[in-house]
Amino acid sequence: MTICSAPGKVYLFGEHAVVYGEPAVPCAIDRRATVEVTPREDDHIRVTAEDLSLDGFTVEYTGETGGDAVDLDVSQSLVEAAMAYIDAAVQQARAAADAPNAGFDIRVDSEIPLGAGLGSSAAVTVAGIDAATRALGEPLDRRQIADRAYRAEFDVQDGQASRADTFCSAMGGAVRVEDDSCEPIDCPPLPLTVGFDGGAGDTGELVSGVRRLRSEYDFAEDTLRAIGDVVREGEQIMRETVEGSQLTAAGQRELGRLMNFNHGLLSAVGVSARSLDQMVWAAREAGAHGAKLTGAGGGGCVVALGESAQTRTALEYTPGCHRAFTTEVASDGVRPQESDSWPHHETRLTLTRVRCQS
Ligand code: MEV
Repeated sequence: MTICSAPGKVYLFGEHAVVYGEPAVPCAIDRRATVEVTPREDDHIRVTAEDLSLDGFTVEYTGETGGDAVDLDVSQSLVEAAMAYIDAAVQQARAAADAPNAGFDIRVDSEIPLGAGLGSSAAVTVAGIDAATRALGEPLDRRQIADRAYRAEFDVQDGQASRADTFCSAMGGAVRVEDDSCEPIDCPPLPLTVGFDGGAGDTGELVSGVRRLRSEYDFAEDTLRAIGDVVREGEQIMRETVEGSQLTAAGQRELGRLMNFNHGLLSAVGVSARSLDQMVWAAREAGAHGAKLTGAGGGGCVVALGESAQTRTALEYTPGCHRAFTTEVASDGVRPQESDSWPHHETRLTLTRVRCQS
């Protein structure tokens, strides 16, 4: 049996503008997906998912792929999507290890809310590929895992995947994304708080909406360029305003200010939402240095930098906030775990599905 875990991510800066060649800086957060893989004698894949961070979700069933009507109080499409990523990860691991008929028992656990724009699917895919290739005796390095995971997401998302989520999850820390290139960058420890409104925007529609605005208004194009300027400024702060390995207090304030700027620019191109704005303002008023939406917007999550206990409480009491948690930048990307390290949660979800791949 092999266990690997990989982190989710937030965008410190740069979403949407990155589509037009500006840089973006996502960073890994210390909320992880964990995948356990045990090779089977046959070529079957059996997946058990525990606590995929779907609130109020309790179901236990075993059935063949397709056609099970399951009584879920969350979107079954989210669960189906999670399973599609696991299947795609298995295909990549089989190809990497030249073991096309390898079968596995797979257990998945994630502390990253599904469908919230926090990179849960990338984390499951990355951890799954690492665990499966190790289990087959053909471990990959982190860049190879990132590349395989990108290909898996590309297949599941019909060619719409960005390299950012899978690269960030595989490598950990902060990453600079520009065009097709992703590179790790130095990132001091940052106290972060995430607020989730329980929903998610449609990434494709939001990206198309920004594209329309950009073609209609020169100042929308300027706005996206200005986001690129904010990103470059943010990178400089993270590089230069550090004492020891820590960001100075002035550096934290300045980074927060840039996050506020970035949020305003994202609002200007129409990708914020009332729930996101409310959470952003609640975090700032609670003393966070700055706050912005993270990901595609339209709903989903905000990320705040600063005094996290107060910020979290403020977010929890904000109308429209479904849940909030404190976190920090995860310096570790994908990694193997001890065999007795399976996460324990107070509330458990168990979803067992048997997939027979012939
Ligand atoms: C979505 O997580 C990030 C966007 O910039 C889209 C992308 O980069 O593919 C909005």
